[in-house]
Amino acid sequence: MRIALIILAAGVGKRFNKDGTVPKQYIHLLGHPVIYHATKAFLPHVTCIQPVGDPDQLLSILAPLNSNKILPPIIGGAERQDSVRAGLEALAKLPAEKQPDIVLVHDGARPNISTDIILRVVEALKDYPAAIPAIPVAETLKRNKDQFIEETVSRDNLYRAQTPQGFQFQPFLTIHRQAAGSSATDDAALFENVGLKVAIVQGDENNIKLTYQEDLKRLECLMSNMMLPRVG
Ligand code: CTP
Ligand code: MG
Repeated sequence: MRIALIILAAGVGKRFNKDGTVPKQYIHLLGHPVIYHATKAFLPHVTCIQPVGDPDQLLSILAPLNSNKILPPIIGGAERQDSVRAGLEALAKLPAEKQPDIVLVHDGARPNISTDIILRVVEALKDYPAAIPAIPVAETLKRNKDQFIEETVSRDNLYRAQTPQGFQFQPFLTIHRQAAGSSATDDAALFENVGLKVAIVQGDENNIKLTYQEDLKRLECLMSNMMLPRVG
């Protein structure tokens, strides 16, 4: 089975960086850019990787990984969905024998991705056309209106979606093309919108997306602990 990864590194990170300097996926975390960590984790598990973002930066950041699985980086689009679509169109241009059977889409801003999650998503794709990792919502949910609570929302059956999200390549490409112009914040939404089943597999609390400044400290802490030799 040929597995492609689209690794997303476009976007400016408005919530992370109010002054719009270096986008969050390119800042350094434990000696390497965030996107480097995210990409490296997938290398043993995929056939090819399509990076999407600033091609010059991505070329130099990913060169030390020294892998012929990494395809030439391409530029992204204004919305996340446009960037995914750009990645899909690049994969669709590969010679037929190199086209993937399944495609994973991962946020380059999620550097602490475990092998377990990648394998759970890939395994689920043997049975379902789409699968995503997600975790149940733990907190009580409130709807805000003008800084006062309007109502408490039941958290029954509510999950927080993560990436990598995995799809059978051909239906995903078709659905993406048909959805051009909408702006979904994840890829599963496009599948759901046309009534296709998306399986949920167990996500991971530590698979944090760098979104706000405070996430950087949490990631540094988590990832540096993981690099320590295990005791006992
Ligand atoms: N992304 C992308 N193309 C875009 C927007 C986002 O490739 N036009 C990618 C980001 O690089 C990130 C992932 O999608 O890895 C998740 O998006 P998000 O965290 O929302 O990143 P930004 O859109 O850059 O951040 P913000 O919403 O705070 O502006
Ligand atoms: Mg965004």
